[in-house]
Amino acid sequence: MLWFRRKPKGTPPMTVQNRQVKLASRPVGVATRENFSFETAPMPAPADGEVLIKVLYLSLDPAMRGWMNEAKSYIPPVQLGQVMRAGGVGEVVESRSPAFKPGDFVVGMTGVQEYAVLKAEHLTRADPNFAPLPAWLGVLGMPGMTAYFGLLDVGALKDGDTVVVSGATGAVGQVVGQIARIKGCKVVGIAGGPDKCRMAVDEFGYDACVDYKAEDVRKRLRDLCPNGIDVYFDNVGGDILDAALANLARGARVVICGAISQYNTTTGMKGPSNYMSLLVNRARMEGFIVFDFAARYGEAAKAMARWIAEGKLKHREDVEEGGVDAFVETLNKLFTGENVGKLVLKVQA
Ligand SMILES: NC(=O)c1ccc[n+]([C@@H]2O[C@H](COP(=O)([O-])OP(=O)(O)OC[C@H]3O[C@@H](n4cnc5c(N)ncnc54)[C@H](OP(=O)(O)O)[C@@H]3O)[C@@H](O)[C@H]2O)c1
Repeated sequence: MLWFRRKPKGTPPMTVQNRQVKLASRPVGVATRENFSFETAPMPAPADGEVLIKVLYLSLDPAMRGWMNEAKSYIPPVQLGQVMRAGGVGEVVESRSPAFKPGDFVVGMTGVQEYAVLKAEHLTRADPNFAPLPAWLGVLGMPGMTAYFGLLDVGALKDGDTVVVSGATGAVGQVVGQIARIKGCKVVGIAGGPDKCRMAVDEFGYDACVDYKAEDVRKRLRDLCPNGIDVYFDNVGGDILDAALANLARGARVVICGAISQYNTTTGMKGPSNYMSLLVNRARMEGFIVFDFAARYGEAAKAMARWIAEGKLKHREDVEEGGVDAFVETLNKLFTGENVGKLVLKVQA
């Protein structure tokens, strides 16, 4: 980054470069650095109604791996040569919209780059006085909304339900578990390793946690949920989904939020084999996309902010250093379980 001279606060930076990460080829299996090009581009300029944002933190999400594929999905794939799609939080440095002024903090789909120009109507505000900026990409952002609507609407949570959550300490999972506890339910987590299981219980208030790397998940769920699982919130798919299906209560709701165990497969996704449990238990399994609830984000954000202020909802972010050049290696931590909480990449100070 080349800075020519300091300018007064609130005016665009005198930089000539914008570091960007573009998709160069479609990964097969785990994404590698070779699938991306790391480039410098001229500083973008906002047009009427647009805002120039200095990107401070990027949200790294499991879904990004799917966006790299050619396949038809709920959102078009990132095209080869395009800046990699990503949510981010940053500071407004120039605004050509009355909605924002320099110095405001905003959340939007900035992409994996140091500066982004976005339409003002596609941005929401972040308030660093209420919660640190990375939390606006986690509990107060898309993963928090996913947890709220996935559990309460899709999962149709009821008093007295027994809830099981896979990916229990992750960005979505940690919020699902805590909302279920706030609602007075019994909550069992599934996570990888003793440290994450301890965190699930001690930090996020799960009643118990199954270490899927060391324990027989199907048997442990049977012991921990003797009356069956009423809501299974699935973040991981694969064998863990099957183990949960084998332990459903009558009228159970299985919420398909994601299937991270399958995102890097090169041999085809592994589907559930225990699906007849849905018939036996008059249960339902339903997938959802958080964006379909966009009109109601305000409701969830209000509830989340209230629970945080009351000390009922904790949040943990895993902020990694390295700037946009560290994008690929940092993203891959999601698939090895190296992230502890919402994975965020710090782009610049
Ligand atoms: N439907 C929607 O609208 C929507 C929106 C947001 C996210 N999602 C989905 O929600 C899920 C969680 O996303 P997140 O952002 O909260 O990520 P996250 O849970 O913070 O991070 C991913 C975690 O997945 C676990 N994992 C990775 N590989 C695994 C495997 N092979 N088997 C079991 N667990 C594995 C790891 O935890 P352990 O160390 O415990 O293994 C890892 O830390 C993802 O499937 C994502 O695609 C869906």
